[in-house]
Amino acid sequence: MVNALSSGGSAKLVLITGVSRGLGRALALEMAKRGHTIVGCSRSQEKLHSLSTQLSPDDPSKHLFVLADVRSDSSVAELAKVMVDTKVNNAGTINKNNKIWEISSEEFDAVLDTNVKGTANILRHFLPFMIQNKKGLIVNLSSGWGRSSAAEVAPYCASKWAIEGLTGSVAKELPFGLAVVALNPGVINTDMLASCFGSSAAVYPSPESWAPNATTLILGLTAQDNGASLTV
Ligand SMILES: NC(=O)c1ccc[n+]([C@@H]2O[C@H](COP(=O)([O-])OP(=O)(O)OC[C@H]3O[C@@H](n4cnc5c(N)ncnc54)[C@H](OP(=O)(O)O)[C@@H]3O)[C@@H](O)[C@H]2O)c1
Repeated sequence: MVNALSSGGSAKLVLITGVSRGLGRALALEMAKRGHTIVGCSRSQEKLHSLSTQLSPDDPSKHLFVLADVRSDSSVAELAKVMVDTKVNNAGTINKNNKIWEISSEEFDAVLDTNVKGTANILRHFLPFMIQNKKGLIVNLSSGWGRSSAAEVAPYCASKWAIEGLTGSVAKELPFGLAVVALNPGVINTDMLASCFGSSAAVYPSPESWAPNATTLILGLTAQDNGASLTV
């Protein structure tokens, strides 16, 4: 099934982690609407199934949705058997608002494991194929809090500053033709925003209104953008 996936013409094969809701889901819907083929993952089978049905009710093999936790190196290794043109490392999580001394080591680890090590797992397993193909683009979701800081979200800030550093460093390792960028998506009304902003999250734009500009930006990136810290 994996090898049967194809894009064709100018259409691209795009991997998006964390497609079950929020920005990842909106990106998947927008990219598919523009004719691109999506490979997506998350930890929620039911939501993956509902997205698959919404995207291609008549042809479930058009896109590929896989139950995978980005924290699992072996799950990501399995996912990397699919050759894709563009990867969007979107899966992420945030700690419940709290001061650092009130955050358990388990919660701190969950944020770092998902946001930083999950992204590193994708880079580890997908980059060798991209290097072999001499092309490919990786977008690592950063944050305004990857370039500034705020109280009560220290694990999250630490993880997104790490994404900026990781991206800059990997960019220097890539051969010509490949690109990795950090992308701050702005402030968008998702479950994650509701977790840190509470009810005021509702005044921010929806993922659906964000996705068209984000899709245009991501699909317009080239090797010249390698190492950039961008905002959409
Ligand atoms: N919303 C904003 O304003 C904002 C601002 C700055 C940066 N960002 C960044 O944008 C990205 C998306 O955020 P969002 O607001 O859309 O968050 P969200 O609504 O909470 O969605 C997070 C997505 O990540 C998936 N996910 C979480 N842990 C995972 C894991 N271990 N393995 C696989 N998938 C996992 C979730 O799926 P399951 O739970 O089904 O696994 C879900 O699909 C994140 O990297 C976030 O840091 C968002």
